[in-house]
Amino acid sequence: MRELTLTRPDDWHLHLRDGAMLTAVLPATATVFGRAIVMPNLRPPITTVAQAAAYRERILAARPPRSDFVPLMTLYLTDATAPEELRLARQSGFIHGVKLYPAGATTHSEAGVTHIDRILPALETLAEIGLPLLVHGEVTDPSVDVFDREARYIDTVLGPLLERLPGLKVVFEHITTAQAVDFVRSRAQGLAATITPQHLLYNRNALFQGGLRPHYYCLPVLKAERHRSAVLEAATSGDPRFFLGTDSAPHSRMAKESACGCAGIYSAPLALPLYAEAFEQAGHLGRLEAFAAFHGADFYGLPRNQAKITLIRENWRVPASYPTPDGELIPLRAGEVLPWQVATDAQNRPWAGDHP
Ligand code: NCD
Ligand code: ZN
Repeated sequence: MRELTLTRPDDWHLHLRDGAMLTAVLPATATVFGRAIVMPNLRPPITTVAQAAAYRERILAARPPRSDFVPLMTLYLTDATAPEELRLARQSGFIHGVKLYPAGATTHSEAGVTHIDRILPALETLAEIGLPLLVHGEVTDPSVDVFDREARYIDTVLGPLLERLPGLKVVFEHITTAQAVDFVRSRAQGLAATITPQHLLYNRNALFQGGLRPHYYCLPVLKAERHRSAVLEAATSGDPRFFLGTDSAPHSRMAKESACGCAGIYSAPLALPLYAEAFEQAGHLGRLEAFAAFHGADFYGLPRNQAKITLIRENWRVPASYPTPDGELIPLRAGEVLPWQVATDAQNRPWAGDHP
């Protein structure tokens, strides 16, 4: 296949940051994706509806000219989040989920939840009002092997939580293991998962290919091959419980290439081509559209996008870096050639063969 036209996709897990970094990274997403679930792990985190409203305005103001990209906002759950704030979030119409970071699990998670029992009233409220809980599913106990933290979270936190609150709507974010795939499949409704391009295309060997590779480091960390293949099988199976979430997470080169480098992979400018590559490798390119454009919208109860975009099978080279006022960004696959690209018109807008 040389050309693939599909419904404009959405990104159901994205870090846009703020200030100069927001301005630098937003166009890559806004030109391709119709909407994105925007993560709230700023410093300070987005914990109130008022903060989310202000952040949303800053995102709208940073969009490229004529962009109709829609940011779908989230709140950052803390031990102190009041059920009343969650009700206000539901009423706001622009907040679509509440993010649970176990404290210490990942980048900017210091203000996160210290124990699931502390937030039970908040979770009961979410179940009651039907606002999805978006979960970074890893235990933080330093004695647990870093590769086992997702599976341990299912056994000790997420499984018991869903037994206790079966009405809670949950997105298990950026799943990386066979156990997570099985767990999502084990529940008839109310549970779905996002999947990143890196967890479809790479196993943990990529972190150590000829040396230490900080630009392949994110959390949850890449896993062994059997897990990558289980996650790829789930993504390309057509099961509506699995959908696209890039987890594109920009950090400056300085912050990544360091004695203690930040977790996060910057993939926004090449994300859709990467997913196309993974689906093609699995022999299921025909299932990319539903994964990228239908399943997430259906789960969140939002209308599917109407516009179309076209991918063409033509080599292009990923830039070695993207300059920003806060330092260079090194994307995934920097300087390498990819087989798929998003077709664009003379104004550099995505093209679907239906406008000049
Ligand atoms: C994310 C970030 O940098 O904000 N990092 C990452 O490795 N994925 C946080 C997150 O989603 O865990
Ligand atoms: Zn993330």
